[in-house]
Amino acid sequence: SSEINERLKGEHFDIIAHKGASGLAPENTLAAFEKAIEIGVDMIELDVRNTGDEEIIVFHDETLERTTNGTGLVHDYTLAELKELDAGSWFDPKFSDQKIPTIKEALDLINGRCKVLIEIKHMDHPHYHDFAEKLVDVIREEPNGYEWIILQSYDVEYIEEAHKYDDHVQTKKLMIGEDSAPLISFYVETKMHLGRAKEDDRMKALNPEFHTLSTRRVFRMHARGFEVYTYAPNTREDMVKMLHMGVDGIITDYPNILMDLRNEI
Ligand code: G3P
Ligand code: CA
Repeated sequence: SSEINERLKGEHFDIIAHKGASGLAPENTLAAFEKAIEIGVDMIELDVRNTGDEEIIVFHDETLERTTNGTGLVHDYTLAELKELDAGSWFDPKFSDQKIPTIKEALDLINGRCKVLIEIKHMDHPHYHDFAEKLVDVIREEPNGYEWIILQSYDVEYIEEAHKYDDHVQTKKLMIGEDSAPLISFYVETKMHLGRAKEDDRMKALNPEFHTLSTRRVFRMHARGFEVYTYAPNTREDMVKMLHMGVDGIITDYPNILMDLRNEI
C-alpha cells in the first residue's frame, strides 16, 4: 500500500512480541507466548519478578490487581499461593485457565522456537540480591540457552552483574521516556571517547521508547554500532513510521500487525 515506500522494500526487521502477543491473549502467560510463536515472531519479550519464597516468575507489575484476581504485592506471596490465581480472566473469560508462569515453565514452553528477551526491572528489595546471577543460571539450564535468551534492563547494574558472573550471556540496554535523549548521548559518547568500549560492546542494542526516536537518533546509534529495538508501537501507522527511521526491531503487543507488514514488504 501507499505508505510502504520503496525504501522499505526488502528491509529486514525483527518482530518482538511484547509480554507475548499481549494484544491477543493475557500478557506474560503461556497462552500469550504460544500465540506469538503461532504468529511466527522472531522474539518474545517478557518481565520477571521474585516471589516471597524467591522463585522467579513471569509477571509485569509489582502488585497483583491489574492482571490477576489477587490483591497486594507479588513478593508477599509464595509461588504456591500465586499459582492459585487466575491470570487470564481479566483479559477474557476464555483464558480463565491461565496461571502466572515461572520463568522455567515459560522458557521450557518456548524452547528455542523463537528468541526470548527477559526484562529485569529495577527492584529495590533485598531479596533481589543476585537476581541477575539467578537468571543467568536459568539461561544455562536451557538447551543452547545462550543462543536464544537475552537479558535486558533499564538498570545497567543488572547487566554488569550478569556479565561479571558469566560473560557468555547476551544483553541489551533499555531506555525510557525523557531519559532517552541524554542516555543516547551518554552511550554514544562513552563508546566514542571514554574507553568504556568493552562494556558497551557487550550491550549490543539500545531499546528506546518509540516516541523518543527520530531518524537522526537512530542514525547516531547505528553509527556507533548499536542495534535499535523500539517499544511499543501498536498501530500499523506507528510501526511504519519506526521502520522508516530504520529501527532493527519493534517490540509490540500486536505482532500480527507487524507480521502482515513484513509480508507486504
Ligand atoms: O521491552 C520494553 C518494554 O517492555 C518496557 O516497558 O513497562 O512494557 O515492561 P514495559
Ligand atoms: Ca517489559
